[in-house]
Parts: sequence; structure tokens; C-alpha cells
Amino acid sequence: MTHRTGAGTERTRTERTRAERTSADRTSADRTPVAVLGTGAMGAPIARSLLRAGFEVTVWNRTRQKTGALTGRGAKVAGSPAAAAARAEYLITMLTDGAAVESAMTGADGALAALAPDAVWIQMSTVGVTATLRLAELARGAVGFVDAPVSGSSGPADRGQLLVLASGDPGLRLRVQPLFDELGRRTLWFDRLGDGSRFKTVLNNWLAVLVEGMAETLSLAGALRLDPGLVLDTLAESPLGSAYATAKGRAMVERDFAPGFPLRHAGKDAALALSAADHRELELPLTEALLKRWDEAISAGHAEDDVASAVTVAGHPRP
Ligand SMILES: NC(=O)c1ccc[n+]([C@@H]2O[C@H](COP(=O)([O-])OP(=O)(O)OC[C@H]3O[C@@H](n4cnc5c(N)ncnc54)[C@H](OP(=O)(O)O)[C@@H]3O)[C@@H](O)[C@H]2O)c1
Repeated sequence: MTHRTGAGTERTRTERTRAERTSADRTSADRTPVAVLGTGAMGAPIARSLLRAGFEVTVWNRTRQKTGALTGRGAKVAGSPAAAAARAEYLITMLTDGAAVESAMTGADGALAALAPDAVWIQMSTVGVTATLRLAELARGAVGFVDAPVSGSSGPADRGQLLVLASGDPGLRLRVQPLFDELGRRTLWFDRLGDGSRFKTVLNNWLAVLVEGMAETLSLAGALRLDPGLVLDTLAESPLGSAYATAKGRAMVERDFAPGFPLRHAGKDAALALSAADHRELELPLTEALLKRWDEAISAGHAEDDVASAVTVAGHPRP
């Protein structure tokens, strides 16, 4: 598998910070029409970043009320995916899962039929490998398609600091890179279509294992009557620690489950990892075990809470 950071002359630009970008970079976005389908925790900050950069942004969301804050920032609101797509040169989907994306693109008033043939559909939702290839197939012959899930939650999305994991037609790279430069701190480009989603699946499998490992480690520390704060401090200053896991560990200790990355999304992504592994006849016993626990936490009401709420079902007493 090969990957590149940026493409050609875009490499330097991708690696520059937002503050370092010149006004000439910004004017290149001038009023280019972009549609964003989905204004949830990720779609809304993505739309805001594009508005800040000077794109003409039209948003659509199934629940229209959730688009309100964006109109104040200059976004147009469309009544259907097709209406959002009508003038778009680029269309971003940022919806929950593959079924939601497919319905917005090909359902009643779907966006796909309304897009111009030279438009590019940038699929940024985390939908896994199988759905990505299916969506790419729907786009084939109709519009350009780029698979581009992101790593980073709503905070990085707001600051334009996502990691964009992109794959698709190499001929589209230079076209879409200016958008990715506004949304992300870095773009990893992959040659094989679907590798953006494959890579995202791998990263989020690691995230799941880290979070569950932290939850169980803190449960063990509690059962042994050790100070969990000291455990976290010790991990933080040692190569054993991971900044992400220790941050989640502190949230677990404080029982602060304000959503950063909701448990329902983390569970969905763990299930996508299991499905990808299954296609390769590979077992992921850790992921399989943690998903059973996380399903319990979701059933107990933690679906919208941060993934740190996995701690609520870690360390059950042995039956
Ligand atoms: N949150 C994160 O930290 C994060 C980080 C990286 C990647 N992601 C991924 O990014 C994607 C979006 O995440 P998010 O956090 O923005 O989710 P979210 O806040 O729950 O928003 C989900 C969006 O999908 C829409 N939607 C759901 N089902 C739909 C359907 N059947 N038809 C049409 N629209 C539907 C929702 O519309 P309504 O408003 O009408 O419900 C909303 O616009 C997910 O794939 C997620 O895994 C999330």
C-alpha cells in the first residue's frame, strides 16, 4: 500500500498551518459552490470552516432546525439533498452511516441525480469499506467520487485540524485539496479506492482498544484500592501512556461524559472493524469482546455520551 501527503505542489501547502496560509490561498476558494449534507457534530464545523474560507456553502440536514446556526454565518439552507446539490461543484456527505448516505444521495429528492457531471462527491462520513465501495459504484459514470473519512472530533473540525484520509481518482486530487486544506491539518492520500476508509477503520479499532484498555485498567486500579489519578499521572509521563487514552482516563475518573466522540459512533466503528476483519477471515477478539460491553452501555443510556462512558460497564464483578 502506498500513500502520499498532499499531491505535487500541494504537499507544502497541506503541511503549512492555517495561520501561515496567504490571502492568495483564500481567494482561490472564492464563492465556489459547495453542498454539505449533514450538519451534525462534524458536518456543522466543516460547513463553518468552508464558509470562513470563502466557499459558497449550501447545507441540507434531515432535521432542518439543526441548520439554524449556520444561516447566521452565511450558509444557504436547502429543503432537500437534490436542491443542495443543484449548483454544487463539490458535495460533502457527513452523515451517520452508509444507509443514511445512500438515502440522501439516491432516495427521494436524492442529491446524486441533481449533481452536474463534472461535480465531485466527497464522502467524509465513517461508513466502512463495504459501504464505501458501494457508494463509489453509485457515483461511477455520474460524478467524481473521493472517499475521505476524517480522524479527529468536533473540536479539531472547528479548528480545521482534522486528519483527512483520502482515496479515489488521482485526477481529482488537485481539485479537492484546497477544500481539505481548510478542513484538515494534513491529508493522507491513498492510491487504492477505499483505502481512506480502510485506514480509518484501522485507526478507530486502535481507538476502541485504547479506550477499553483504559477503562479496564482504571477498574482494576479501583478494585486494588490504588489512586487512579496516580495511575494516570504515571502513564502520562511514561512511554506506556497515550495522550488520547490518558485524556479519556481523566474523563472516566471524573465521570465527565460530555460528548466528544459519542459511544454510539465508537461502537459503530468497532462493528465496522469486525466486519472488515471478517471479510478477510480474521478474528479481532479484543474488539469483539469490547463491543459486547459497549452495547450494554449503549442500552443503559450512554449512546450519546462520550466513548469514555465505556468505563460504566468495565470491570464487572466475576459472576
Ligand atoms: N463525532 C465525532 O467525533 C466524529 C469524528 C470523526 C468521524 N465521525 C463520523 O462522522 C459522521 C458524522 O458524525 P457526527 O458526529 O456529525 O454525527 P451526528 O452529530 O450524530 O450527525 C449525524 C448526521 O446524520 C444525519 N442522519 C442520520 N441518519 C440519517 C438518515 N437516515 N437520513 C438522513 N440523515 C441522517 C443526522 O440528521 P438529523 O440531524 O436529522 O438526525 C445528522 O445530520 C459519522 O459517520 C461519524 O462516525 C464522527
